[in-house]
Amino acid sequence: KHIIHLSAECYPVAKVGGLGDVLGALPKYLQQAGLRTWVVMPWYNRPFVQSHEFERVYAGNFHQGSRPLEVEVYREKEDTLGFGLYLVKIPGLVDREEPYGYTDESEQFMAFQHGFLHWITEADIVPDVIHCHDHHTGLIPFLMYHCDRFAGLKNVPTVGTVHNGQYQGWMDWNKAILLPPFDTWKWGLLDWDRVINPLGALIKCCTRFTAVSTGYLDELILQANGLERLFAMERAKGVGIVNGIDTTVWNPAQDTMLPHHYRVSNVQSGKRKNKEFLCDAYGLDPQKPLFAYIGRFAGEKGADLLPDIIENLLGDATVDLNIMVLGSGDPQVQASIAYLAEKYPGKLGAYIGYQEELSHRIYAAADFLLMPSRVEPCGLNQLYSMRYGTIPIVRSTGGLRDTVIDIAEQKGYGITFLNAYVADAVEAVHRALSLYHDKQRMQQLRKHVMKLDFSWDKSAIKYMELYQNITQ
Ligand code: ADP
Ligand code: GLC
Repeated sequence: KHIIHLSAECYPVAKVGGLGDVLGALPKYLQQAGLRTWVVMPWYNRPFVQSHEFERVYAGNFHQGSRPLEVEVYREKEDTLGFGLYLVKIPGLVDREEPYGYTDESEQFMAFQHGFLHWITEADIVPDVIHCHDHHTGLIPFLMYHCDRFAGLKNVPTVGTVHNGQYQGWMDWNKAILLPPFDTWKWGLLDWDRVINPLGALIKCCTRFTAVSTGYLDELILQANGLERLFAMERAKGVGIVNGIDTTVWNPAQDTMLPHHYRVSNVQSGKRKNKEFLCDAYGLDPQKPLFAYIGRFAGEKGADLLPDIIENLLGDATVDLNIMVLGSGDPQVQASIAYLAEKYPGKLGAYIGYQEELSHRIYAAADFLLMPSRVEPCGLNQLYSMRYGTIPIVRSTGGLRDTVIDIAEQKGYGITFLNAYVADAVEAVHRALSLYHDKQRMQQLRKHVMKLDFSWDKSAIKYMELYQNITQ
């Protein structure tokens, strides 16, 4: 079978968050399992693209409204990622450095999707399944099924995966003229609350949709940034499939980004060396328990709670711990973290920005990883941290609830708290501290979490079953 994935991100070509990780890993597992798998993404002016060999496989033209556009498609020659990688380049629109953040983002993603369909139609490529990820590729099923010029794709089933329902790609209706001509009787499929809603259109038009954990699939009916009723109506089409992790990239025994390698048998000394290395770089004390936060500074992640959580802990003379923060986003949170790092030197280390290598080093060095998320469709940080023997402290929501069991329960291995409040998070940190001082239990839990299997093997099979069901 031939499966085409469409996404704005794919690690290591371009990654902003977990979407990139998933697209860098799942397709590799699918390809290994025997499916012919392609990832099609926008062309980016980024190091991976500059340093790998690509060949042009298509060049053509189309119009976005009255604007003539050229489209070129490049294929990576060597398949170094373990699947076919295709980049769609549209000079002037889809040829930039960053995946997001431009004022003409709607035009960019519309052009990417139109350009993709134009290419496969002209080149007579008819895959078995087209799999769209998040709102950036959400118009594809609508365009496939309701534009005459793509009629050749009408019978191709589509899967839509919701990695993040908070962002929906809303566009004013005056942008509709920029889409390829479609059956206007069907405009309602694009609409939600009087604007074009690409994520909504994806859910309405795709053959089946998936959410990145079963917990999140259930939550979408209650909390989906305005799309709750739609998710309730379309529930029968939905499947929850929890993300896995790429155990070749995330492996403390081989990770080239780590100063020291370790495995389950020597986790204690291995983590200590990594901790000493990190603490040395950030002026922290390796004798103290180290709590870390890694992630986008966004409301969904509860990042706005971080400054107060940190102040509560570090301002309390009876609490003895160090904190390391890696992240960027909300300027107010950035400023508060920078201020606190100055206020508490030797106790709080912070790097404001994005740094892949540092993230690996923190997962390896920390004793605990804190995730006070308000919304967490799956969350990969907690899975990476466990793979590196770091105990997760998470707010019980979405994928965090599905993947972390509290130590108070039988077979528990992490720390969970109920509400995204400062007090709840601080209390959870206190519980973690008592655990930390129970050396034997801590040691046993570290080994336990490292051995848990969150690899893609199981989840990739679920996607394959889904493809099988819709192509019969
Ligand atoms: P989301 O996709 O919502 O941001 P996930 O938990 O699924 O959350 O994935 C986040 C991914 O991004 C992880 O691989 C994490 O290590 C990485 N990450 C987040 N912020 C940073 C940062 N500032 N520097 C390096 N890696 C980061
Ligand atoms: C989103 C979610 C995150 C999930 C990731 C990959 O960015 O916020 O929870 O792990 O997508 O599916």
